[in-house]
Amino acid sequence: MNVKLRAALRMEMDAFDRIVQFYQYDFSEIEDGDVEKDGRFHYIDVSRYWTGTDFRPYFILVNDQIAGFAVVREESKSPPKWWMEEFFVMRKYRRYGTGRHAAMCLFDMFPGEWEVWQSPNNKVARAFWRSVIGAYTNKNFEDSTHEIHGWTGTLQRFRSG
Ligand SMILES: CC(C)(COP(=O)(O)OP(=O)(O)OC[C@H]1O[C@@H](n2cnc3c(N)ncnc32)[C@H](O)[C@@H]1OP(=O)(O)O)[C@@H](O)C(=O)NCCC(=O)NCCS
Repeated sequence: MNVKLRAALRMEMDAFDRIVQFYQYDFSEIEDGDVEKDGRFHYIDVSRYWTGTDFRPYFILVNDQIAGFAVVREESKSPPKWWMEEFFVMRKYRRYGTGRHAAMCLFDMFPGEWEVWQSPNNKVARAFWRSVIGAYTNKNFEDSTHEIHGWTGTLQRFRSG
């Protein structure tokens, strides 16, 4: 498996949005989401990834095929602080280390303080991030509960680079 990241361009917004639909579909089971009358999920507005300056959207590629996406948000320039906004690996590519490889590439690409948060019901994501960040930092990371929009989830904090 050859896992790579490629910056998603504004002209690729529609393609990005389609993959984000699959992500929201997965989340609908975990967070009880629904599609609207047009048959689409509208929880995530991808256009802000290109209208705002603080987002870094990427396609995750496996053997040059789109296999997922990631969005990193710059929380602060000085000191550099990064937030994993969204992260998704398509089902076919899961459990082969795709997510691990892509996440570690992002940590290397954006050195500084990092925060990654998982919603309370997302057990798989929690296991994934603890495993990946644990390996990346040699277990040198903080793991705590943290509330966002009234949801008490799990937050990992660590330093990269
Ligand atoms: C979470 C997700 C990104 C994992 O991607 P992946 O490519 O399958 O992950 P990897 O194969 O790199 O797994 C790395 C490690 O994470 C853990 N892990 C991954 N999936 C797991 C699962 N289903 N159950 C338990 N642990 C899991 C394991 O420790 C795994 O190492 P191992 O395979 O050697 O045991 C993917 O399942 C996904 O996109 N889920 C839906 C979206 C989502 O929840 N995103 C995260 C938002 S915070």
